[in-house]
Parts: sequence; structure tokens; C-alpha cells
Amino acid sequence: AAADPALIEAGEKVFRKCAACHKVGEGAKHAVGPALNGVVDRAIASAEGFKYSKPLTDLGTGGGIWDSAALHAFLEDPKGFAPGTKMSFAGLKKAEDRDAVIAWLSTFAD
Ligand code: HEM
Repeated sequence: AAADPALIEAGEKVFRKCAACHKVGEGAKHAVGPALNGVVDRAIASAEGFKYSKPLTDLGTGGGIWDSAALHAFLEDPKGFAPGTKMSFAGLKKAEDRDAVIAWLSTFAD
């Protein structure tokens, strides 16, 4: 089912907290963090050409997928979900902010 447009719009605003490190959309390139096109429901740490930390790489090779539950856990507490991750971000403590940014990201295919 398509996500609620209001939720997607809220997610675009939440993404301002991410945009210093992540690009998304047509032509997005890796920056401090990987480009996030197509990340929702993809294998963890699998964007081509980005050098991930070992802990995130290990989650991916272990079969981890960025489904909604994994994205919620990582975005709430990056270092709790992936100890040693190089994503230096305190996390989104509000579930509604996480829902919104995940809805926004889900609008971008690879
Ligand atoms: C990784 C989302 C904020 C730097 C990731 C990944 C996601 C993500 C989904 C995993 C990508 C993959 O497996 O291909 C977000 C969102 C943010 C945010 C939604 C805001 C709410 C930030 C900020 C920074 C950052 C502010 C920089 C200070 C990174 C880095 C990685 C990463 C360096 C790779 C981590 C590693 O290899 O351990 N981010 N991010 N992110 N992000 Fe973020």
C-alpha cells in the first residue's frame, strides 16, 4: 500500500537531520554516509561503492535486511543496533519521526 502523503511530507522535514551526511533522489552520490535510494527492504550495508564499518557489513552478510523493524531499531539508537557503526547520530527518539522518514525514504527506488 502507498504511504500516506502527509506522512511522506513530514518525513521530508525529518530528513533535514540526515541530509548533512546522506543524499537521496535522482543522481544522489555517497557522502559521509551512503546514498539512500532504494535502501528500504534492501540488504544492510549493500550500496555499491560505499565503505561501511565492519559491524554494519557483518549485519548485512549475516542476512540482515532494512525492513521497517530494523530501520526503526537503527534509527532510534544507531550504536545500540550496530555497536561500532560509524554513523555518528544520536537517533530519532520519536517513533512518529522514524515512521515519517522511513515513509519518505520508501519513495526513492534505486
Ligand atoms: C548509514 C539512515 C543520519 C552517517 C545509514 C544507513 C541508513 C541511514 C538507513 C544504512 C545504509 C545502508 O546500509 O546502505 C539515516 C537517517 C538519518 C541518518 C534516516 C537521519 C535520521 C546520519 C547522520 C550522519 C550519518 C547525521 C553523519 C553524521 C552515516 C554513515 C553510515 C550511515 C557514516 C554508514 C555506517 C556504517 O558503515 O557503520 N544511515 N542516517 N547518518 N549513516 Fe546515516
